[in-house]
Amino acid sequence: MKNHSISFIGGGNMAGSLIGGLIADGYAPNLLTVADVDGEKRTQLQERFGIRAAASNAEATRHSDILVIAVKPQMVEAVARELASEERDEPKQLVISIAAGIRTNSLAMWLGGKVPVVRAMPNTPALVQSGATVLYANEYVNVLQRETAESILRAVGLTQWVADETLMDAVTALSGSGPAYFFLIMEALEQAAGSLGLPPELARVLTIQTAFGAAKMALENTSGPEELRIQVTSPGGTTERALQVLREGNLCDLFRRALQAAHERSVELSKLLGKDSHA
Ligand SMILES: NC(=O)c1ccc[n+]([C@@H]2O[C@H](COP(=O)([O-])OP(=O)(O)OC[C@H]3O[C@@H](n4cnc5c(N)ncnc54)[C@H](OP(=O)(O)O)[C@@H]3O)[C@@H](O)[C@H]2O)c1
Repeated sequence: MKNHSISFIGGGNMAGSLIGGLIADGYAPNLLTVADVDGEKRTQLQERFGIRAAASNAEATRHSDILVIAVKPQMVEAVARELASEERDEPKQLVISIAAGIRTNSLAMWLGGKVPVVRAMPNTPALVQSGATVLYANEYVNVLQRETAESILRAVGLTQWVADETLMDAVTALSGSGPAYFFLIMEALEQAAGSLGLPPELARVLTIQTAFGAAKMALENTSGPEELRIQVTSPGGTTERALQVLREGNLCDLFRRALQAAHERSVELSKLLGKDSHA
């Protein structure tokens, strides 16, 4: 599984974390290549990880088993059309796209047709190897390629598959945008603790460790967050009083509406980014 050559098109934040994760996972640096329009970024990654740097996307593509497209969504069409015009060693090479909102049918069409494409939706904690990535494979991806794609994204955290690509918009609303929801909750807790007189540094460290501890408990416990919440809520106690206020403020309904709004925006952006793919 760790003997495929992988080329990254785009050497930004996400590519950097994937490369770091793969090397930490035992991948040989000489199997990894990066291409980026920015020569400085290529050199930085080359020096940091001992990987190969290609002078152009075409060069990176030519001799690799797997291509990972890691440019911003607006750049994907141009990159894919450029790759489609290249003479590739292996026309059926697996293409993994981590670009938000780009559908597999758009990408396969830009790449020239019946191309095996895996679409991955990671989130920012991938930068610290604690990401949550959801994958979707088009009909041309075989079992081995699915396993390979999964093992690459597993290098930066948890992976899950969906069989229906339209669910990617809900995934974007939950785990894609989700880190920001938790950051906002942390900000709100810090501010509220400040108003109770806690010094800012103490409020911050307690907020972050509490979030981490709660997430760790939820991860390690099979009974789920609801059960954990009930366990820590003593009748007549402080937690119960606070939760009552959150309920009166309709917190659950607020999150339902927030995710709905993110979902709608994800659908809009996907349509916009793939608008010429049916031409
Ligand atoms: N960051 C996240 O947490 C996150 C989460 C989920 C999904 N994603 C997806 O991951 C992808 C990459 O995100 P990122 O944050 O890593 O972006 P990024 O840091 O901007 O990296 C993209 C890199 O690609 C380069 N590039 C632009 N056009 C190119 C071309 N034609 N050929 C080769 N390289 C080119 C950019 O160079 P210049 O800067 O010089 O243009 C930049 O170095 C995006 O599509 C995003 O939707 C990211």
